[in-house]
Amino acid sequence: MRPVKIAPSILSADFARLGEQVREAEAAGADRIHIDVMDGHFVPVISMGLPIVEAVRRVTRLPLDIHLMVAQPERQIDAFMEAGGDIINVHVEAATHLHRILQAVRGRGRLAGVCLNPATPLSAIEEVLGEVDQVMLMSVNPGYAGQPFIEAVLGKVRRLRETLDRLGMSSVEIEVDGGVTPENAPRCVAAGATALVAASAIYNDRASVAENLSRLRFSCAPEGAG
Ligand code: DX5
Ligand code: ZN
Repeated sequence: MRPVKIAPSILSADFARLGEQVREAEAAGADRIHIDVMDGHFVPVISMGLPIVEAVRRVTRLPLDIHLMVAQPERQIDAFMEAGGDIINVHVEAATHLHRILQAVRGRGRLAGVCLNPATPLSAIEEVLGEVDQVMLMSVNPGYAGQPFIEAVLGKVRRLRETLDRLGMSSVEIEVDGGVTPENAPRCVAAGATALVAASAIYNDRASVAENLSRLRFSCAPEGAG
């Protein structure tokens, strides 16, 4: 089994020292940096945009996992690829012409991801599975860090993994986003997740980024493999 990818979300980072917080995550073995872009329309609040992506791009070599929680994502994808995004994730609920968006992202040599809210069934992406590199299953309703994990999403993770394996698309990444902790991470991985996003479990005042990240990684591979 591939080691699970850990994607710290800077949504809970200290923005006054963002560069340092990103470097801490990279030094601690993060696999990618997750950036939550919210427009105050698709989700209630506004978080961060292009200047932050450009700034993070300058301080790390890790892939940038851009989570676009925005209405009309087709209007934004070019700018976020330009700014340094490596994985461009759009919500199926927000995209009218999803197929076109995914093709445009792949056409520019980036990885294309599609995100599903907890209430959105897997059938919503059935017709585009061949066009995606990653499916992001939300385990909270998007908009905020620090919300509790929705356990029912684990069944969706399992069913998606079964479908991908059956279709010979095992390389498609399943990323779980929202409420991930060392307690539920093993269940996410057992269900078939290959990447885990974590904001408040990585950036908090209880322990250092390195300690939190290794606790999360160790929870998924207690025998220390990988
Ligand atoms: C929620 C964001 C998540 C968020 C996760 O809308 O998409 O990426 O940062 O935060 P935690 O890990 O604290 O639930
Ligand atoms: Zn996110």
